[in-house]
Amino acid sequence: MELVLGLESTCDETGVALVRGNELVADVVASSMDEHARFGGIVPEVASRAHLEVFVPTVQEALHRAGQRLDDVDAIAVASGPGLVGSLTVGVAAAKALALALDKPLYGVNHVIGHAAVDQLVHGEFPDRTMALVVSGGHTSLLMVDDVATGVTELGHTLDDAAGEAFDKVGRLLKLPYPGGPHVDRLAREGDPEAIRFPRALTAPKDRERHAYDFSFSGLKTAVARWIEACEDAGREVPVADVAASFAAAVADVLVSKTLDACERHEVSTLVVGGGFSANSQLRDLAQARGAERGIDVRIPPLKYCTDNGAMIAALGSAVVQRGLEPSGLGIGVDSSMPLEVVRA
Ligand code: KG4
Ligand code: ZN
Repeated sequence: MELVLGLESTCDETGVALVRGNELVADVVASSMDEHARFGGIVPEVASRAHLEVFVPTVQEALHRAGQRLDDVDAIAVASGPGLVGSLTVGVAAAKALALALDKPLYGVNHVIGHAAVDQLVHGEFPDRTMALVVSGGHTSLLMVDDVATGVTELGHTLDDAAGEAFDKVGRLLKLPYPGGPHVDRLAREGDPEAIRFPRALTAPKDRERHAYDFSFSGLKTAVARWIEACEDAGREVPVADVAASFAAAVADVLVSKTLDACERHEVSTLVVGGGFSANSQLRDLAQARGAERGIDVRIPPLKYCTDNGAMIAALGSAVVQRGLEPSGLGIGVDSSMPLEVVRA
């Protein structure tokens, strides 16, 4: 089996991993999140510079942990989209330099599909038909995966905010530090998820027809903002834990109910949930519970493989190599809005 080096630099994490088949050999991640936190969002220029600074040491550390040398690498996979254009450019340039110097094949792969593919390293090869829900700060997409390397179809996506983005915005409303997602999650565990009935967008019968597998979270965020305002105007203290819990319950409910409906309609009995937002405990718990009720095997990778990492890119690269697909070649560019049906550039 080929040893695949995976490089991830789509946002603020520089991830480098080595995978052989479905076995993870080494995985190292460096993050520049601390440098962005004081700005309340990712600053692309800061992220690009951080990738540049840590790339070589991160590759060296991964090789060191694996007990391998660069010469031992058989193929190089890099996330060539979607993501921030400057960040992607650093990773793709590094990957091209390595491929040229080592005379090894180069594969540009899709970062979002990688969020699903990483689960193969943990729970084994996907069955022939698998549903994947990929949720992060930038994406909320439902993918039908007939083959992770050659057959991915997007069934639906968010029409506005991604789930993680909505959490970050509600975090701001609740005056929590950036990124708000994990803080809202923690607070929600202390509140009553039924205290406030927030709207479940695109679940009415008419929307179920047109937008069966699409999501929308911007109206929900506005509903939370209005609710907090009304509470403050009335001079009442905002019950922050109940607001967080009721909001988190609304997000998890919509994600899980639409996704499980898609599984049933497509006669798929395995669901993979991936992406930074799959770290969310309300989503993890609800997906496992409702999946069990409906006879659907729900696979969610451990937390460290949910946020951006090199293992997911090496995993997807390894799947592409195993299928014998042509390398992308040194001519590839970056695609900040790479379509989700394109696995390999
Ligand atoms: O995939 P990711 O690391 O980066 C991209 O957006 O590509 O996802 C990060 C997003 C952020 O919006 C973050 O707030 C959210 O995922 N997030 C969470 C949790 N952990 C991360 N949101 C809710 N609950 C969490 N536990
Ligand atoms: Zn991501």
